Amino acid sequence: MPLLRPRPSPRARHCSPLLCALHRLAMSSSAAPSPPSTSAAAEYHCRTKHSLTAGYARSPGRLDWANQPNPFVRFSPRAPNLSPQPAPALSAVPYASLLHFPPPPPQPLTVDSLSALLFHSLALSAWKSAGLSTWSLRVNPSSGNLHPTEAHLVFPLPQEPGRLAIAHYAPRDHLLEVRASAPIRDFSAILPASATAVLVLSSVFWREAWKYGERALRYCNHDVGHALAAVALAAAALGWDARLLDGLLDEDLARLIGAPWVERQHPDCAVLLFPAGSDPEVDYGRMSEALKGLDAVEWVGEANRLSKDHVVWDVVYRTADQVKKHNPASGEQFSMLPWHRSPALSEGLYKELTVQEVVRTRRSAVDMDGVHVMGIDTFYQILLHCLPSGEVGPGERQGLQNAMPFRVLPWDAEVHAALFVHRVSGLPKGLYFLLRNKEHFDALRSAMRHDFEWVRPEGCPDGLPLYRLMKGDCQRLAMQISCFQDIASHGCFSLGMIARFDPVLHENGEWMYPRLFWETGVLGQVLYLEAHAVGISATGIGCYFDDAGPG
Ligand SMILES: Cc1cc2nc3c(=O)[nH]c(=O)nc-3n(C[C@H](O)[C@H](O)[C@H](O)COP(=O)(O)O)c2cc1C
Repeated sequence: MPLLRPRPSPRARHCSPLLCALHRLAMSSSAAPSPPSTSAAAEYHCRTKHSLTAGYARSPGRLDWANQPNPFVRFSPRAPNLSPQPAPALSAVPYASLLHFPPPPPQPLTVDSLSALLFHSLALSAWKSAGLSTWSLRVNPSSGNLHPTEAHLVFPLPQEPGRLAIAHYAPRDHLLEVRASAPIRDFSAILPASATAVLVLSSVFWREAWKYGERALRYCNHDVGHALAAVALAAAALGWDARLLDGLLDEDLARLIGAPWVERQHPDCAVLLFPAGSDPEVDYGRMSEALKGLDAVEWVGEANRLSKDHVVWDVVYRTADQVKKHNPASGEQFSMLPWHRSPALSEGLYKELTVQEVVRTRRSAVDMDGVHVMGIDTFYQILLHCLPSGEVGPGERQGLQNAMPFRVLPWDAEVHAALFVHRVSGLPKGLYFLLRNKEHFDALRSAMRHDFEWVRPEGCPDGLPLYRLMKGDCQRLAMQISCFQDIASHGCFSLGMIARFDPVLHENGEWMYPRLFWETGVLGQVLYLEAHAVGISATGIGCYFDDAGPG
């Protein structure tokens, strides 16, 4: 297969200490420039910034339709598949109650309940056509609708005690292709007694790089976050909890998805699905040992080639390799948090929609009307649901993520939001900041412009750490920063996601780089669903100038 390589990038710029993650709109602080970081993540992040002065990150600059990667992987010769038809419905759980109360009683693990999980998280949800083209859309959003994220499920084979199935999820046909089934000696190390199944996510970078070139790694990881949130919410509607198995290392994850495909897939993460309220005992060392048993397993079928040619954007693959998790983080343990309700003003602010209706009919807005004014209670309610935690108990860490669906992530919140408020009734237009982890307040404040106000808006609920930074009409600024897209200025508000950058990588390791994007993706999916559930629409904005900001 011919491999085409792009020329090396001529651009090199310094990194700001804040990560401006994508989704809706991003802005950076006017922090004093930090010394250039030498980490692979920082280098990649700086190199792939869009800049008002130095130009856009490297990309193909045109769409090579003849080589558009197929968004669907299938294995041949055909693997045995499990495909319950029609796809089972979820019981009618109201969307708002899922966030405010403990989940419904757990459904038993069956092929049908797993099918319901996938149908409400990673399945196709609509077909569209224009002219001669027809394309599908999915429950989980993806920048450019390119869908780099693939999923495998690991579950006990029905009626075959001690045997484990590893199946690839094929969304076009909504079926599970069983690629491997094996008797596993230490079965309970992989699926602890109280657990149900493990879901593994991986990315096909080429699908995203085909359009976005070097920036693809950011988008793929952000899409992993969308998928995590989608899975966590669908699981909750089935009475299950979902939590990253983040003590697994890259080599463990690779074992769970089998032999490499023609266009490489990159293992991202695994999530344990288990009955809510139970506390599965996970021992990462034992799990890792047991997974070695998969080395002897025979994988069924070969993946279809996704395109004729394949451009290798080296920096994407290289950086993905450099930020893999190869060593366990010290003291890393799987621990489950008690269920916390997300803070609520009133469930009456939501349309009467079930989880099923919200997740399967969510769509990205293609335009904003520039007229609608959002009620201030709705605005505050949406932001309350963006907080990582319901209530922070005495002695608990401020950034603990235990609210739905953030509880899928085992680290404390790292991602904050800077909001351009354009049209919210009773709230002055301006730039605001949602602090998702109060422990970062001092660091963020001192990294930003010193004339920012940091004033709590009048009437803002006590539990909502929202600050006004400056008053004023930010519509033009929002549009400019967002690659001159009107969607950023014509909505009620737009926002950018911001994280401490160097400190996070320094304190934990470079493997946190993709995880920051997973967190932005979870937050992005929450915003999508919240908008839909209150009767309006949202959209992601992946194109923004990373370092542009006010003044
Ligand atoms: C992270 C992300 C970034 C996006 N960036 C843009 C953008 O910059 N401009 C735009 O018009 N649409 C953008 N979109 C919207 C996508 O094109 C849209 O999500 C995609 O076509 C799939 O449609 P769906 O979300 O309705 O499934 C973005 C979507 C996501 C999830």
